[in-house]
Amino acid sequence: MTNQLALGRMESFGGQRTLPRRLGAVAENEQIAAEQAARWNGPSAQTWIENQDLLDGLYRPFEELLVRFVGDVSSRRVLDVGCGTGSTTLAVARAIKGRAVGVDISEPMIAVARERAHSERVEAEFVCGDVQSRNFSEAQFDTVISRFGVMFFSDPVAAFRNIHEAAEEGAHLRMIVWRNPDSNDIMVIAERAAASLLPDLPPRQPGTPETPGQFAFADPDLVTPILEASWWRDIAIEALNIELSLPRADMLRYVTTFGLVGGQLGMVDKATHGQVIDRLSDAFAPFEVGPDVQYRAACWVVSARA
Ligand SMILES: C[S@@+](CC[C@H](N)C(=O)[O-])C[C@H]1O[C@@H](n2cnc3c(N)ncnc32)[C@H](O)[C@@H]1O
Repeated sequence: MTNQLALGRMESFGGQRTLPRRLGAVAENEQIAAEQAARWNGPSAQTWIENQDLLDGLYRPFEELLVRFVGDVSSRRVLDVGCGTGSTTLAVARAIKGRAVGVDISEPMIAVARERAHSERVEAEFVCGDVQSRNFSEAQFDTVISRFGVMFFSDPVAAFRNIHEAAEEGAHLRMIVWRNPDSNDIMVIAERAAASLLPDLPPRQPGTPETPGQFAFADPDLVTPILEASWWRDIAIEALNIELSLPRADMLRYVTTFGLVGGQLGMVDKATHGQVIDRLSDAFAPFEVGPDVQYRAACWVVSARA
């Protein structure tokens, strides 16, 4: 694929359109959308960029799963929704003979993704935009994938309708989302271990699509109606349990950077910080396998057809 062709195709993403939002919730939706845009163009983007190596290592099994899937269905034109710094888009671009496009609301993350494509000499395209309001203007993808990139919409129906419009008839949708936090050991264990040292640690709220965030798609009974209302069919949601592993120090970095504990640690004094690290190290002991900490992540694989 030439750069000329890539640029020409990127332009077809332009333009805005108005989509129906949940009745009676327009102002609230817009406020949530603005908060999410600010988050992913601000602190969260910085954290993801700074820890890109760690996250890509930890989440590689999900990437491999999606790459296997695009191979199985012989994808030629793939859209990666909420692609972040581009790891899955790049992996797909390497694996298929065709076109891989990542879309993300975060300008800094898209900038990193483009830089990676350039330095790794991979022909992947990256587009910056909010999939809730971006008009994809034509059905141009035979496969849509996402690794944890679809749980942050204030109006998921608008987002999935837009994505549907970008998909050719019969196109595959395959995305990986988190199951509820209680099924995801490591974060919960870290929260429990640190709780008495971090009195401001917010309680875990049940994730729902109404409250965008990591666990917004944890309840499959709430995900199916969103996809149905967005014209997707043959919806299937299957549990995925997968062993994730990182060297011990990296796993400590992961839980002290992300999640509720990570959010609190920036606000405590040095002594408390040290005590939390000691507690987390002890809490990880049962999960140590040689030099690594290994745990079972609990996700859903959501599949549908356009
Ligand atoms: C948890 S990160 C996952 C990033 C990437 N898929 C990965 O696995 O490394 C979620 C991503 O969704 C993006 N995102 C959130 N809301 C979005 C929206 N409305 N439109 C497009 N991207 C969005 C964020 O900017 C972020 O990069």
